[in-house]
Amino acid sequence: MAKKKLNVGMIGYGFMARTHSNAFRKVGNFFDLDYEIVLKAVCGRNEAGVKAFNDKWGYERIESDWRKLVEAKDIDLIDICTPNDLHLEMAVAAAKAGKMIICEKPLARNSAEGEQMVAAVEAAKVPNFVSYNYRRIPAVTLAKKLIDEGRLGKIFHYRAKFLQDWTISADLPVGGTGLWRLDVNAAGSGVTGDLLAHCIDTAIWLNGSIKDVSAMTETFIKERKNTFTGEAQKIGIDDACTFMGHFENGSLATFESTRYARGHKALYTLEINGEKASIMWDLHDLHRLQWFDHKDEGQLRGWRSIHITDGDHPYMKNWWVPGLQIGYEHSFVHQVADFLDGVSKGKLVGPTFRDALETTRVCDAVIESAKSGSWQNVKK
Ligand SMILES: NC(=O)c1ccc[n+]([C@@H]2O[C@H](COP(=O)([O-])OP(=O)(O)OC[C@H]3O[C@@H](n4cnc5c(N)ncnc54)[C@H](O)[C@@H]3O)[C@@H](O)[C@H]2O)c1
Repeated sequence: MAKKKLNVGMIGYGFMARTHSNAFRKVGNFFDLDYEIVLKAVCGRNEAGVKAFNDKWGYERIESDWRKLVEAKDIDLIDICTPNDLHLEMAVAAAKAGKMIICEKPLARNSAEGEQMVAAVEAAKVPNFVSYNYRRIPAVTLAKKLIDEGRLGKIFHYRAKFLQDWTISADLPVGGTGLWRLDVNAAGSGVTGDLLAHCIDTAIWLNGSIKDVSAMTETFIKERKNTFTGEAQKIGIDDACTFMGHFENGSLATFESTRYARGHKALYTLEINGEKASIMWDLHDLHRLQWFDHKDEGQLRGWRSIHITDGDHPYMKNWWVPGLQIGYEHSFVHQVADFLDGVSKGKLVGPTFRDALETTRVCDAVIESAKSGSWQNVKK
């Protein structure tokens, strides 16, 4: 039977536009979908830039105005891969136009924006999804399964960090591709919304809601040259953030993120300690899950390093043969596969906009706590 075509309209042509385009291209080769994905149009303001992108990725046409793309009759799904300050306007317009939406994380710069986005997609009843892709690294998905099966027992600690080192130079300018992250107006916050948001999304998914937080942030470099004007610009983002908190289930949260950890490029790690067992995972070794089970025989008890490549492991039977690992880009393939499976079945698949709003509310509480120097409850 011929598959139904699903026409994608991509906004942006940077880092995430590449990971998503790659996922759209590959997913049908590895997963059974009811849809045939068509890369219909890609939108960018710089004609030469978007053309160079499209020479590699092959969308059928190029648009320069995202509003035109959002309203185009032949587009079914809008994929928002632009800086955070544009998510609200684009998502609300796409929802009003009745499109399915995939939006990059964080949902928005803050929860006030996020709430408007949730209201728009829920009023329009359109499938909506936020790209917290680490949920769909097979080792992390397996961690979820083990926790849900009760194998850790009562959970005491959830520890996560996301460390980078790319902004240490004071000569790095603010603004433009990738560097919009240093501009608080474009990004909303620094490492909190950019990196800790990933850790928070995974944590809520694995261990439930976070109730309250106490945070500290630091801006190490307080002024940078603007990429376009060359003028000095005050820096308002958090370069580093550390917070502690309580989960609703009584376990304790300790989270840290920085772009000033010399030697670390994208070290996302998480560790969960339960009454019966513990789990550790590390993005630099993403195809392994570390597992310690107290019920193992005493003399052989120790940390196991499970190579997540077997057909029994989440998603892996769709890829190669046991022993052969997959990587970062596959998490984006998995999320498209799951999202479209949900669309076929008329079911929302998480993280939805509403799920992602919870993460943004934790980020807001973290920033507020660092400002006030006091504990903050996370808004419900
Ligand atoms: N899931 C993840 O792991 C992950 C990783 C990186 C970035 N992100 C998120 O993805 C989003 C994009 O980040 P990126 O790293 O791809 O940034 P980027 O700077 O590489 O790309 C942003 C793109 O948006 C385009 N753009 C900006 N304004 C536009 C406008 N008005 N109309 C059309 N296009 C416009 C830019 O030209 C560029 O192509 C952000 O929200 C970011 O937080 C998520």
